[in-house]
Order: sequence, then structure tokens, then C-alpha cells
Amino acid sequence: MLSDLSNIKKNTEQKIEGSKADDLSKLNLIFMNKLSASQFKMLSEFIYKELGIKMPEIKKTMLESRLHRRLRDTNHSNFSDYLNYLFSGEGKKKELDHMFDVITTNKTDFFREPTHFDFLKTTVIPELTSRFKNRAIKIWSAGCATGEEPYTLAMVLNDMVEQNLLFDYSIVGSDISTRALKKAMDAIYPAQIANDIPIYFKKKYLLRSKDTNKPTIRICNLLRSKVNFQRINFMDDYYDINSSFDVIFCRNVIIYFDRITQEKVINKLCTKLKPDGYFFLGHSESITNMRVNLETVKPTIYNLKNKNI
Ligand SMILES: C[S@@+](CC[C@H](N)C(=O)[O-])C[C@H]1O[C@@H](n2cnc3c(N)ncnc32)[C@H](O)[C@@H]1O
Repeated sequence: MLSDLSNIKKNTEQKIEGSKADDLSKLNLIFMNKLSASQFKMLSEFIYKELGIKMPEIKKTMLESRLHRRLRDTNHSNFSDYLNYLFSGEGKKKELDHMFDVITTNKTDFFREPTHFDFLKTTVIPELTSRFKNRAIKIWSAGCATGEEPYTLAMVLNDMVEQNLLFDYSIVGSDISTRALKKAMDAIYPAQIANDIPIYFKKKYLLRSKDTNKPTIRICNLLRSKVNFQRINFMDDYYDINSSFDVIFCRNVIIYFDRITQEKVINKLCTKLKPDGYFFLGHSESITNMRVNLETVKPTIYNLKNKNI
């Protein structure tokens, strides 16, 4: 009896080992796949048209390695089958958003490029609150990735409210990536990410998980109630966002676009800015030589001009 049992156990273990080996060799095959020149051309043109993201030849290896994960998750062993599926009716419904998730770079941090938050605190908010008493300040974090930027804005603004600068505010975070937006809405982050947050804000606005094996932090409900998330593709003709904003942060997004797309996107974003509203770009981005309705306040910080171009 006992020996029967041990034989069954041994056979099962061998089968598991065998299937593990099969899985590994399947994975190896997937991860060795390369895009042909024509497949890469078709995909890069599609990505440019749908997302505005430029995909030159130099990014071919990066694109392949990001898509390998999609091949694995959709059970396709080569790019040819995967692309047929992606562009089929079913693929467009079920796979396209996942493909966008892996194509986009969602790198972000709390208090990234902190001089912008200092400028907001010392200049923009005091100016707006003195000009418009009793009106809520509206901020759009456009291309917010996993939410660190809009929550940083909420920390800074909420702290100012608590310092007796009584005003109301609301923040919208938007992105094309549904996976990033889900993380933003969950508002739970690995604890080490909070290292970028000054202790003062950590104590006020973060909740710590009790799980010591996988420590996480969560943004408190008060700040979460001030931030709403929405999916917006900058390539859309019109941004379906039901508001105009005093401040738009669009940082480290246009860096992925070519010049023509950058100009178009900034002009469309400007249609959602209130007169004299402020517009922030990332530190490596600028509007130099662009036909846009903005004037420079400081490098990467702009004001809407009140005249047409
Ligand atoms: C590098 S993150 C920047 C996050 C944040 N603004 C920051 O500076 O830390 C760029 C974000 O832009 C988003 N993005 C790229 N193309 C987009 C498009 N066509 N429409 C909307 N969002 C897009 C990406 O999904 C990504 O989350």
C-alpha cells in the first residue's frame, strides 16, 4: 500500500517536472522570437498612429521584449500568430489595451522634479486663491501613469488648505494605460516607493500595511476623494474631459512624441486651460520653436497667452 502511494507520488512528481520542462522550453521559444522588418514597420506605424509614440529602429529590441510577455499571456508562440490575433476583431476588443499597457513607459515617482511643487506652493496657488476667492482650483495631471503625480499634488494642496489657506480643489489624473490607472485608483504602493515622500507628508497622508513580508503604503481616503481618474488618449481629436483647468501638469509624456505630435497635443491641452492658467512640462521637455499659445514663466513652466496664434 505504502509503496503504491510512493510510486504514485513519484510518477506525479515526474509528470510535474516534465510539464515544467515543457513550459520552460515553450517560454524559451517565445522569448527568442524576433519581429521581422515588415512586422516591426507595421507595428511601429500602428503605435505611432494610435498613441503618438515614436518607435524608431533603435527601439526594436525593446519592443520585442515588451511584447514577448503578451505572446506568453495570450498563448501565442510567435509574432506572426500574435499579430494576426491582435488585429482580428476579437484581438482589438480583448488584447489592444494590454498591448498599450506594455508599450507605454509608466515610470513615475512621488515628488518627481520637486521644484515644480515648490513653485506651485509659493507662487501659483497663492496667486490663484487671491484672484478667485470661493472658487475651487482644478488641476489636471495629464499622463499620470500610476498616480504618484496627482497624489503628490493632493498632498501639497491639502497641506496648504490645512495651513489656513482656505480653498477647495480637485485633481484629475488621466492616462492611456488601463493597468496604470488601476494601480492609481487602488492607491497602494510598495513601501520603499514612499522613500521619495518627505516624512512630514508621510505622517499626514499615508497608511502603512501591517504585513511585514510585503510592506505597502496606502494614500489616505481624504486625498483619494480629491483625485479622480479618467482614461484619455492624447491622440483623440478632442479630450472628453468635462472641465477647464487652472493648472495642467503634462510631464515626461511628450518626450515620447515627435515634434508635430508634441505641438498638436499641447495645443489640444491648452484648450482645456483657463485664461492665465499654468502649464507644466517635464524638465527635459520644452516648447521652443513650437506654435503654441503659451509663454514661458520659468523653464518648463508656462502661462496661457490670452491671444490667439
Ligand atoms: C513616463 S510617464 C509620466 C508620468 C508622470 N507624468 C511623471 O512625470 O512622473 C508617461 C505616461 O504617459 C502615458 N502616455 C503615453 N502616450 C499616451 C497617449 N497617447 N495618451 C495618453 N497617455 C499616454 C503613458 O501611459 C505613461 O503612463
